[in-house]
Amino acid sequence: MNKNFDWSQHISQLEDFPQLTDLWEQELVAELKTHIPRREKLTVLEIGCSSGRWLRWFEKEYGAQVYGVDLNPVQASKVDRFILGDGLNLPLLDGTFDIVFSLGLIEHFPDVQTRERLVAEHVRVAKQKTGVIWIGLPNMNFSLSCLWTKFYYDHILGYQHYRVTSQEMFRHFRHGHVQILRSRFLGWFPAILMRHLTRRLCHHDLSLAGAPAGRWWEKKLFEHSWTADDFLIIGRKE
Ligand SMILES: C[S@@+](CC[C@H](N)C(=O)[O-])C[C@H]1O[C@@H](n2cnc3c(N)ncnc32)[C@H](O)[C@@H]1O
Repeated sequence: MNKNFDWSQHISQLEDFPQLTDLWEQELVAELKTHIPRREKLTVLEIGCSSGRWLRWFEKEYGAQVYGVDLNPVQASKVDRFILGDGLNLPLLDGTFDIVFSLGLIEHFPDVQTRERLVAEHVRVAKQKTGVIWIGLPNMNFSLSCLWTKFYYDHILGYQHYRVTSQEMFRHFRHGHVQILRSRFLGWFPAILMRHLTRRLCHHDLSLAGAPAGRWWEKKLFEHSWTADDFLIIGRKE
């Protein structure tokens, strides 16, 4: 990633707490709750934490002790335990945290070796055997999300996103000796429409000839990659 890129404006615009109104956010939260059991004294680290909004979600949901690393300290005062540092070379000891995550970070690093190193740093500071690592990124497979990201965020707004596929993320986890617990696409927007329509149909008692509306086939659609907003991968350090 270009370390001279100034994230200050983006960071300052972020809310203090995730809004949880978008489908991808709701699906993300459901997956996290499923794969991260409640436990006492959970320690959580976010790499590229910006305003720390997702750290506050962990504080609220899990009563976790949270830590945030970022190169940019513009919202550092909002994060209780803010660490000024580089995600590629974390100033932290091996095996320290129960949960290590990043969201919207890895796709800003241009080359695959650097991205592998970023994942390796996530893994290094996670607890041996029990540490959970999760990474969320825009769906940069062939998708509308990829086109939209390149057109709107990069071309119009001036950010720089690189193409990180789901296959590449699987490889990084495997190379890092992280057992994959879950991977999926989040926020498939035709599914939002589908959900809305099926609810209406069901409401009028016209459910699709015995099809379990909102069940297995809908779930399959939600996990489809073509036009989903985001990709999520969750794993446990081996
Ligand atoms: C798109 S924002 C992430 C937003 C945040 N995860 C959220 O959802 O609220 C990317 C963040 O990563 C930070 N960042 C960029 N390069 C970094 C690096 N090498 N190490 C740590 N943080 C970095 C930026 O300063 C910025 O705050």
